[in-house]
Amino acid sequence: MYTKAIVRRPGRNFANGITTSNLGQPDFGKALEQHAAYCEALIMCGVELTILDADERYPDGCFVEDTAVVNSRVKVISRPGADTRRGEEEAISRVLAGFGPTESIIAPGTLEGGDILRAENHYFIGISERTNTEGASQLSAILGKHGFTSSVVRVEAGLHLKSDIAYLGNGNFISTPVFSHVAHPANTIILDPEEYYSANCLRVNDYLLIAKGFPKSKKKILDLGYNIIELDMSEFRKMDGGLTCLSLLF
Ligand code: GLY
Repeated sequence: MYTKAIVRRPGRNFANGITTSNLGQPDFGKALEQHAAYCEALIMCGVELTILDADERYPDGCFVEDTAVVNSRVKVISRPGADTRRGEEEAISRVLAGFGPTESIIAPGTLEGGDILRAENHYFIGISERTNTEGASQLSAILGKHGFTSSVVRVEAGLHLKSDIAYLGNGNFISTPVFSHVAHPANTIILDPEEYYSANCLRVNDYLLIAKGFPKSKKKILDLGYNIIELDMSEFRKMDGGLTCLSLLF
């Protein structure tokens, strides 16, 4: 069970963050509304929130997931691979220190939380443009000390591993075809090409948060019996962000 989450509101310069989406400029007012709805959904899932104000030094700062890998046993401060995001982890490190001991990924390792997929007591670590093999091996060693297993997955295209695959709980994954090999195919919902964005969903206790506007994925998820909360993610999608990106849950 998750009991706590850290989130950060988007800043006025949110549109200056990194994006490859070609979906146009995000609307700041709408992004704030969508962020507030996301926070309400987490509260409905039974999570107590720490809400940080925007820090306009970091236009991508609302995507707090990338700054740490957290669970109830250990909190690992990351070292973002994107130059403009390096430093976001410092404030998160101070907040997480209030919840117990932390460890850190150190140079030359780079690692972003969007590349780290947990399925029960196993972690899949994506090697991507943001997470290098050194960062992955540091994380693997830290997780190993705390009783978790891990394995690496190559992310040849796209931003992060979790842009393409999520663990839904109960042994089930949802994935684009490229990552369907990660889990047993019988337990993986394979997404339709026009709905790949919906791979990034987020299990929080008794609910599964899914992005609004992807009817085929929604049906497949409902057929498996999950309680869903649908959230409009349009403005975060424009900045290559998704549901997992907006929180650190532990
Ligand atoms: N805009 C999210 C990222 O590229 O890190």
